[in-house]
Amino acid sequence: MRIHNEALRAKVMSAEDAAGFIHHGMTLGMSGFTGSGYPKVLPTALASRIEAEHNAGRPFKVNVWTGASTGPELDGVLAKVDGIGQRLPFNTDPIARTKINEGTIDYLDMHLSQAAPVAWQGALGKIDVAVIEVVGITENGSLIPSSSVGNNKAWLELADKVILEVNSWQSADLEGMHDVYYGMALPPFRVPIPLVRADQRIGQPYMRVDPAKIVAIVETDAPDRNAPFSPADDNALAIAGHLLDFLAHEVKVGRLPASLLPIQSGVGNIANAVLTGLVDGPFHDMMAFTEVIQDGMVDLLDSGRLRMASATAFSLSPDGAARVNADMARYRDKMILRQQDISNNPEVVRRLGCIAMNGMIEADIHGAVNSTRIMGSKMQNGIGGSGDFARNGYVSIFMSPSTAKGGAISSIVPQVAHVDHIVQDVQVIVTEQGLADLRGLTPRQRAEKVIGTCAHPAYRPMLNDYHQRALKGSFGGYSPMLPNEALSWHQRFIDTGSMMP
Ligand code: COA
Repeated sequence: MRIHNEALRAKVMSAEDAAGFIHHGMTLGMSGFTGSGYPKVLPTALASRIEAEHNAGRPFKVNVWTGASTGPELDGVLAKVDGIGQRLPFNTDPIARTKINEGTIDYLDMHLSQAAPVAWQGALGKIDVAVIEVVGITENGSLIPSSSVGNNKAWLELADKVILEVNSWQSADLEGMHDVYYGMALPPFRVPIPLVRADQRIGQPYMRVDPAKIVAIVETDAPDRNAPFSPADDNALAIAGHLLDFLAHEVKVGRLPASLLPIQSGVGNIANAVLTGLVDGPFHDMMAFTEVIQDGMVDLLDSGRLRMASATAFSLSPDGAARVNADMARYRDKMILRQQDISNNPEVVRRLGCIAMNGMIEADIHGAVNSTRIMGSKMQNGIGGSGDFARNGYVSIFMSPSTAKGGAISSIVPQVAHVDHIVQDVQVIVTEQGLADLRGLTPRQRAEKVIGTCAHPAYRPMLNDYHQRALKGSFGGYSPMLPNEALSWHQRFIDTGSMMP
């Protein structure tokens, strides 16, 4: 029994009945962040209703706001029945991705730290119903957050009505792991966030909700979508190796302390390989101030190298989830889950001096980075938290294999086809070929370094040729480029299936 408040117990009903509170055109603030802590049964019941309405010739779409990506039982089922109107702030679901790229889902790709403040401002309209997964409800009606906090606090406060999913698959020992901070406000009432260490608690372990707003409670025991990691390949291991050498060098020359600064690590196999590499690295007593806790982060905690991990969500493999769930009471002392307007907060990231390490789609020779748009136009996932950390980090690192699609694509290009991170926000680029430390370099120097260090040998002569001709071009300039040619590699790929002539 996870619902300890008697009055609220009376609101338990089926997902189908709860879905009856949702109508065409509504905006839903849903829980969920990187496949954890999202509602698992209500969206499926809602999708059935939407399908029935569509079959009867009536329109039915809802706007879906979440923390970040969710799982097939939320984005997948709703996208499949064409039930999503507007979607923000991040998506990785393949069905939703297709509809985003077709233009049938109106996707707002946002910095993850910005979603709650923008919702507070009211710039995107109001939230009708919050649908939030919780681990349980206490006797006094407080909510025990689940495996992600994300934007739940904001959605609970802003929504007219609230539907809760109480999930007994989630470990009851999550109670006490969270730190929900109630001191956020909009300007001119905004005050400094009193967080000066990654391991500090500044809030409370529970989320508040006005009980009068709760219209339904649905019970479930469905697991999070925990995607398995593929083992690190040679490229991931090489990238991790270059990065660890760089960090060790920074410590040696006194630019980083021996325990490093709080690490932020994106998701995916390369990020996981870096974290695994840190297990055998020379650094002790580390801390993480990051967005998600993935398997590599848990390894790092278990190794004793990492003292504390602060994040907003778990992003684990099925094995990783089983391992953490079985031992949650112990991990509770080493992990803090916060709302994402704190975990990704630019003020806090800048103050703590995070080492920001994120994946990228491509970088150009001057060091601008595209994290989101394939060939400049097709949305892959979204900017996520990469901008929050890249702009404000102590050092901002982007990583990728030097080629994609079996070598048909160079990840180092004359000019990125879409800019997510401007050159000022990118200090280090790493591929399996090497690491380019771009700090203190002019655009001309950056180009030489990126081409010489990061580009794949098969593309290096073409990049050099482009850069040399740009230098001699009639227009010259501080940051030489050839406008007619800068995106020709992307066009060649679109036309022929390869960036190679
Ligand atoms: N051009 C075209 N396609 C490319 C490419 C390039 N330069 N580089 C990669 N791709 C393709 C891959 O081939 C793959 O395609 P597929 O799904 O059809 O196989 C896809 O992009 C994903 O690539 P993958 O190598 O699996 O990347 P990843 O899992 O390491 O993710 C990002 C890389 C950039 C997509 C991912 O890091 C991301 O979404 N970043 C933005 C959000 C973020 O940084 N979040 C963390 C902040 S805390």
